[in-house]
Amino acid sequence: MDQDFREQLERRFGTAPAGGDRTDIPDLWRGLAGRGSCRRFEAAPVDAGLIETICALALASPSKSDLQQRDIVFIDEPALRASLDGLLTPGQPWIAGAPHLLVVLGNNRRQRQIHAMRGHPFANDHLDAFFNAAVDAGIALSALVLAAEAAGLGACPISAIRNHAAELSRLLDLPPHVFPVAGLALGRPVREPMITPRLSLDLTVHRNRYDDAAQEDGIDAYDRRRDEIMPYRAQRDPARFGVAETYGWSEDKARQYAVPERDDFGDHVRAIGFRLD
Ligand SMILES: Cc1cc2nc3c(=O)[nH]c(=O)nc-3n(C[C@H](O)[C@H](O)[C@H](O)COP(=O)(O)O)c2cc1C
Repeated sequence: MDQDFREQLERRFGTAPAGGDRTDIPDLWRGLAGRGSCRRFEAAPVDAGLIETICALALASPSKSDLQQRDIVFIDEPALRASLDGLLTPGQPWIAGAPHLLVVLGNNRRQRQIHAMRGHPFANDHLDAFFNAAVDAGIALSALVLAAEAAGLGACPISAIRNHAAELSRLLDLPPHVFPVAGLALGRPVREPMITPRLSLDLTVHRNRYDDAAQEDGIDAYDRRRDEIMPYRAQRDPARFGVAETYGWSEDKARQYAVPERDDFGDHVRAIGFRLD
């Protein structure tokens, strides 16, 4: 493992994995180790052919049973983009500055259409139908990000597109059993990515059996390590939660999910035909 790669992993996790004596580090590994989301872009658009290639690579990623239950919508109609920005930018003004916006969809409709085409019953109308399509879309989202970053682009997923799932679905003409999973802001980054520290590997990589005995100490240690490298610039909603003397990742995430978020998404998913039992 060479020095640069090791340092990136140490910054990310506190310690680098053993890594053996491998010295020929694949480019993809370097890209993953050093990657970071991008929320500030150059104004110039990216070549449409490059975006199409990135979409193709994303859809080359694994798919459950090769069911291919994910699609990508590339937005290039200015009026539509303005409508989507209208939904997304309250709270996230940076999105308007992204030259491109894509939406990754979970799609269980095609599977049902195949059953109608081939005359077989669809005998899996339960939670798994939604879950599989959502996972497939998540895998494609990840591959979209990695393919874009490998081409020198910047990208950031946007879960806020699900804040107004029904309205977004109307704008994109999404039919039943097709649902938004995430948006993706895309463009040329104005600066190098920042490496966001992650929880240490001994908390998140288990050997044989799940073990969270060291969880609280591990989270406290992560809070401190992260604070040294990437302190929070502001505390979340001090009017509601007060001002904490020490403010780290765990306080921020607990505050974030102390407030309901997208609690109508289940209603939307049921309304477009999914049975979630
Ligand atoms: C499914 C998904 C949805 C996300 N939604 C948003 C979003 O709405 N706004 C945002 O600024 N970042 C969003 N992100 C980016 C995460 O905040 C980011 O990945 C995380 O803070 C870790 O930072 P890094 O990607 O730079 O390592 C999202 C990421 C994922 C995977």
